Amino acid sequence: MNESIFILKGDICYSRTPTELTKLKDGYVVCRNGISEGVYERLPGGYEDCPVRDTEGALIVPGLVDLHMHAPQYSFRGLGMDLELLDWLKEHTFPEEAKYEDTVYAAEAYERFTQKLKFSATTRACIFGTVHVPATELLMDKLEESGLRTLVGKVNMDRNAPDYLTEADADASAEDTVEWIKDCRKRYRNTKPILTPRFIPTCTDALMEHLKKIQMRFGLPVQSHLSENVSEVEWVQELCPESEFYGDAYDRFGLFGADAPTVMAHCVHSDERERRRMKENGVFIAHCPESNMNLSSGIAPVRAFLEEGIPTGLGSDVAGGSTENLFTAMAHAIQASKLRWRLVDSGLKPLTAAESFYLATKGGGAFFGKVGSFEQGYEFDAVIIDDSAVSDRERTDISDRLERLIYLSSEAEITGKYAAGEEVFWR
Ligand code: GUN
Ligand code: FE
Repeated sequence: MNESIFILKGDICYSRTPTELTKLKDGYVVCRNGISEGVYERLPGGYEDCPVRDTEGALIVPGLVDLHMHAPQYSFRGLGMDLELLDWLKEHTFPEEAKYEDTVYAAEAYERFTQKLKFSATTRACIFGTVHVPATELLMDKLEESGLRTLVGKVNMDRNAPDYLTEADADASAEDTVEWIKDCRKRYRNTKPILTPRFIPTCTDALMEHLKKIQMRFGLPVQSHLSENVSEVEWVQELCPESEFYGDAYDRFGLFGADAPTVMAHCVHSDERERRRMKENGVFIAHCPESNMNLSSGIAPVRAFLEEGIPTGLGSDVAGGSTENLFTAMAHAIQASKLRWRLVDSGLKPLTAAESFYLATKGGGAFFGKVGSFEQGYEFDAVIIDDSAVSDRERTDISDRLERLIYLSSEAEITGKYAAGEEVFWR
């Protein structure tokens, strides 16, 4: 194999632990064959002949990781935010997702989504499509071309949705899913399939049994929703009276962390039993604070997730959340945690800026392997941010510059990006 090695120079900032930022002014980060070899104040011997890309004082941070978003919902973000989850699904989400049966509509909408994600600070994402296989493959084609590293799910739903969006039955849903997975294996390098039962209310027992078999056959990860909104949690209790708690309704089918990496969005109302099971099973939480406010779901106890050692990252949950900008998600995570601390539970201290940055990088990155840091051995995902319009770079400490970006960033400052050592763009 041909060796590929290059070095970025700039003001470097990343997390080793949840609480502390590691930062280095005018430093070097070395990438060999897609993997970080570490961060240096002065380049050690041996790198003399390697190309150095000087960002001239830009911030260099690990690529951000979005653990939960819905590509087909990008087209209506910001709409229906006066509704709670179940009415919002019925009034806005299901009618919009039905349009993706039309591949012309899907191609246009997914092109816009992919371009926005490509030029954002995100390098990795767990993404829901719709029930439609052709549209989901179109989305995956576009993501593959973008250079991003993503997990994409064809959604499964065979009950409790409008007829026009509900799959014929569990067998038909499973057959489509298997065909789709086989197609993916031939077509993609950077874009991988993830099993995506939408949530318990839209999946029959027969469908869940099929999905478990498919998971074992192909060894796929799983993404879904959990304990998001009060009326949803009550509905699941009615639908599955035998389950001990919402997460147990997934666990009964072996789709709650057993055998494969699993990420559940929200967990706003996960009680101690549910959280204990998540910790035992290694289930990841995608914390989606903006969505939780917009859909009146509540405020997830993210401090408890961290203290209890449950693997946790951030999700934009577009379009429950209105933006794919994960710096904004970091701000919302901090703000929501402050309100929870003030109004609900003074025992759970608010998140710091360093902690919210950790969630958006190394915390969520762990779902993809060694991702989300510049420590030696991590996959080299990097974002170059020219924050000269936001901060006086000469006079401002790197952690203060990062904190300001959390509140003030737009995609305009993102001037370059690498995923797994490959350039996504540079401008
Ligand atoms: N629960 C089931 N489907 C959805 C969805 O599309 N968005 C959110 N936020 N929650 C869900
Ligand atoms: Fe969601």
